[in-house]
Order: sequence, then C-alpha cells, then structure tokens
Amino acid sequence: MKKDFLEGKKVVLGVTGSIAIYKAPEIIRQLRDLGCDVHVVMSPGAQQFMTPLVFQTLSGHRVLLSPFEMGEEGIDHIEVSRGAQAFIIAPATANIIGKLAAGLADDILTASVLAHEGPVVVAPAMNVRMWKNAVVKRNVEELKAKGFTFVDPGSGYLACGEEGEGRLAHIDDIVLEILRAVASGPFKGKRILVTGGATREYLDPVRFLTNGSTGIMGVELAKASYALGADVTLITGPLHPRVPSQINVKEIVSAVEMLEAVRDELESADVLIMSAAVADFRPDIIEERKIKKDRGNFTLNLIRTEDILKSIQHLKKNRLFVGFSAETHDLFENSLKKLRDKGLDFIVANKIPESFGSGEVSGFLISPDGKKQEISASDKFHFAVHLLKKISA
Ligand code: CTP
Repeated sequence: MKKDFLEGKKVVLGVTGSIAIYKAPEIIRQLRDLGCDVHVVMSPGAQQFMTPLVFQTLSGHRVLLSPFEMGEEGIDHIEVSRGAQAFIIAPATANIIGKLAAGLADDILTASVLAHEGPVVVAPAMNVRMWKNAVVKRNVEELKAKGFTFVDPGSGYLACGEEGEGRLAHIDDIVLEILRAVASGPFKGKRILVTGGATREYLDPVRFLTNGSTGIMGVELAKASYALGADVTLITGPLHPRVPSQINVKEIVSAVEMLEAVRDELESADVLIMSAAVADFRPDIIEERKIKKDRGNFTLNLIRTEDILKSIQHLKKNRLFVGFSAETHDLFENSLKKLRDKGLDFIVANKIPESFGSGEVSGFLISPDGKKQEISASDKFHFAVHLLKKISA
C-alpha cells in the first residue's frame, strides 16, 4: 500500500544559515516519501552554506532566493505558501528566530513566513551559549505564545567543537511535528496511552522468557497518535526502535511492571491501546544466582500473570479501550471472544507471524457487535493511522 499520510498536501521548508542545513535534504526526502509537495525557501545565510540546486533537485520545484524576484504565478513570497498546510523552518538560526519575533520581512524567508496563514514549525540549531542566551529564550517564548511550534534542539557534540544543547532535533521528530501540524488531527486535546513490545520474565539474572514482538507496532501507534493530535504516553518492553522526543516513554521489563505502569498512567488517559505482547506466564521463582548447567535437567514451574486489561476493566469509565489480538488460528472467533471477555470497545486482529515482523501488516478492527472492518496491508505507521482514524470515527 502507498504511504499516503501527506498525499495532496503542500509544505514550505525554510532553511537558514546553520551548519545543520546539511541535514535538511533528508526532511524533503521523508516528506516526499509520504506523498507531500515540498517548496523550499533559502535565507541569504543558507545560500552561503549550500547551493539551491540540491533543494531544487530534491523538491522538484524552483527554490526561492530573493524577495525581488517574480515567479510565473506572481510575487514569490506571497505565492509560495498559498495552499500550504504548514511552514517549517529547519534549521532555524538565532537570527531568523529574532527576526520572526520582531515581525521583520527583510529577506525572502521572513517575508514568506509573514505571508503564511497556517501553522509554523521551528527547529532551532545553534551553539549552546546562543541557545541559552536570554534574548534568544525570550524570542522563542514570544513565538510560542504567538502559536509557533518548536521542536527543541537536542544535546551532544556541536559543530563548533563544544558540547551541549543546540543540535538540530532528530529529523524523524521534525517530520513527526510536521505531520501533526498538517493533520490537525481528530485526537487534538486527547491523551492516548499506548503499550507495546514484549515483556521479559526472568528466571535468573541472565535468562528470561519473552516472545517475538519487536516493539515496532507500539512505537508506530504512539507516533500515529501524536501525528493525529494526541498527547501520548508509551509504555513499552525493553526491545523497541527509537521513540520520538515528543512521546512520553516509560520502559518496563515484566508483566507485573507493565500492569503497575498502566495503572499509574490510566487516570490521565482518554484512550488506552494495548498492543503489548504481555507474558501470560512467569517462572514462580527468580533465582538470585545464575543457574549453573551442572544442575542437570530441571523443570521450570510457570505461574499465570495477571491479565492487565481484565484487571483494569472497573477503571474503564468513559475511556476507550482497544486491545490487540495476534493468532495463528481462528483469528476472528478468538479475537471476538477476547474483546468480550476483556470488555473492550475494539480489538485489532492480526495474523501471526506477520504481526511480529518489521514489514507490512494487515488486519481487522472488530467491535463488540461482531462487526469487522478491514485495515489493508501497509507499513506499521500507516496501519496505525488507518486504525486510529477508524476508532476516532
Ligand atoms: N493482555 C493483557 N494482559 C495479559 C496478556 C494480554 O492485557 N497478561 C492484552 C494484550 O495486550 C492484548 C490482549 O490482551 O491487547 C490480547 O492479548 P493476546 O496475547 O492476544 O491474548 P491473551 O488474552 O493473552 O490470550 P491467549 O494468549 O490465550 O490467546
């Protein structure tokens, strides 16, 4: 299935004179992969670092360089954002942040931002002392108060040789923020709690029982929830891909820890999506010392863990509870039974083994009356988006 989250959408990318500009082409590539039309505006500083040809080649459009040029459609800085769902400035220098806070329009980029009516996403990149400067902080706060969204820089090694906060945020996080800006989603103002990954049930300090969950579905559900407007907490087992900085993440190990974490977080959630592959059994004792092989053959005694969804049924109130069900056989019947036993609003039924891999996944969304809606095969992010849209409807 096509990646269609941004199909038919238009975004303007403004780039400025920071060394982090070398990462900006990746933003264009990711947006275009999602079906988005991207137009690029270069500040005068940006033009010192890179040539327009890079951006023109990647975006497929003429790059805007000067406020004193006219395109075929009319005045560039007025036309560029016409029909655009979002304006993104990445990397954003202290200079552009200051100019925007002051409302200046003395170059092509500032003029274009002023003429844009929709959301603006800003991803700063600068030296740590510049980022911590009180005037820069004030400008950032002023823009936030005016509705600009910031993807704050990360910490680490900076191009100037110093270490600290100021590196351009991870490109995936910038793109996620653009998705959220463009989608202006159905879960705006809602809090979604997602669980994902596999738990580990230790038998001694080095060995554990687990399952084949990669943790990918949990992370993609969290990203899709955020892209559709929600505030998101992800409770996940230890194995999982990188989680974007916008997601509040709690890592747990065992089924007992997952239950505790779900109970702690449920109070503030409007929706619970349990995609975690929680262990149903755990060893009755965890040996303090590593089990030595000269013990010979032995029997592992397993006891049932608590069913998390069942045990929190009484806390559901007006929250939406969504479960996942992976089955090798009788997918529909077994999934419907689980949905009813656990008192869920929906259950997502996937076939094993495809649900445990990193590739495409397909499935059904089943409701308590036995109605099933197909979610066609797609990568896990788009699968999560389609699923969430059906739930929100
Ligand atoms: N689940 C849970 N607590 C458990 C086990 C599972 O809350 N101890 C949740 C899962 O996160 C999922 C749903 O219940 O949302 C169904 O999980 P699944 O493993 O498919 O089924 P089980 O209920 O464990 O039943 P079985 O293993 O017998 O198929």
